[in-house]
Amino acid sequence: MPLTRDGEPRFRRETVSFVRRSDRLNTGQQRAWDEHREEYLVDVPRARATTSVDPAWELDAAAAFGRAAPLVVEVGSGKGEAVLAAAQADPGRDFLALEVYTPGLAHTIRRAHLASLSNLRLAQVNAPELLEHSLAPCSVEEVWTFFPDPWHKARHTKRRLVSPSFAGLVHRVLRPGGLWRLATDWADYAEHMRAVVGADDRFEPLGVDGKVERFDGRVLTSFEEKAHAAGREITDLTYRRR
Ligand SMILES: C[S@@+](CC[C@H](N)C(=O)[O-])C[C@H]1O[C@@H](n2cnc3c(N)ncnc32)[C@H](O)[C@@H]1O
Repeated sequence: MPLTRDGEPRFRRETVSFVRRSDRLNTGQQRAWDEHREEYLVDVPRARATTSVDPAWELDAAAAFGRAAPLVVEVGSGKGEAVLAAAQADPGRDFLALEVYTPGLAHTIRRAHLASLSNLRLAQVNAPELLEHSLAPCSVEEVWTFFPDPWHKARHTKRRLVSPSFAGLVHRVLRPGGLWRLATDWADYAEHMRAVVGADDRFEPLGVDGKVERFDGRVLTSFEEKAHAAGREITDLTYRRR
């Protein structure tokens, strides 16, 4: 199968918000991946590329978690720091982490196993595809998009995850009254998010045009620490699905 420079099969035509990085795992990650993947990683049928989703497939959340509970979905969970802390602090809710990066997923699985978490599942997917096809409409309590890749060079901004079409997908899966929480350390991405979601009247902005105090449930991740160290200011935004 021909591969792009980023290691993706050439079948994906649309622009995506990520580039594939090295899939190399360290020893602990490899062990967690081999021994505990089946417990935590949702088995996603693929359409074309390795992180795609068969559009005919629907996630049975009750079967995946073994119960029916309010569901929080994190898009781009990285090493899983935020979602692991939240799942541990809030056992009454279920958490689904969407990520393409294998070492990040393996790290999250390792930590989830060590903490014996039963309310966390992960899916290795291009998140917009799963939001579009695989989650039931109005089935999600909250969607989290924390520190999406900024793609700040002008020629790359089309790769940004937060766009009018992505807002439509978040709207599709959120229940009425459900929350979309976002955070970024790039001022111009924050303005972009406020322009995109602010223009979508299916969402009600909380705070000042969406800008809110730091969300208590969002722990300080190593990623955010680097942003602080570089002197970048963090913006938290929240919108409610009408
Ligand atoms: C800058 S990192 C932030 C990670 C994490 N949210 C944090 O705060 O530490 C963005 C993450 O989003 C993931 N990502 C980007 N686009 C994605 C997509 N379309 N589907 C799933 N994950 C994606 C990347 O692989 C990366 O791990």
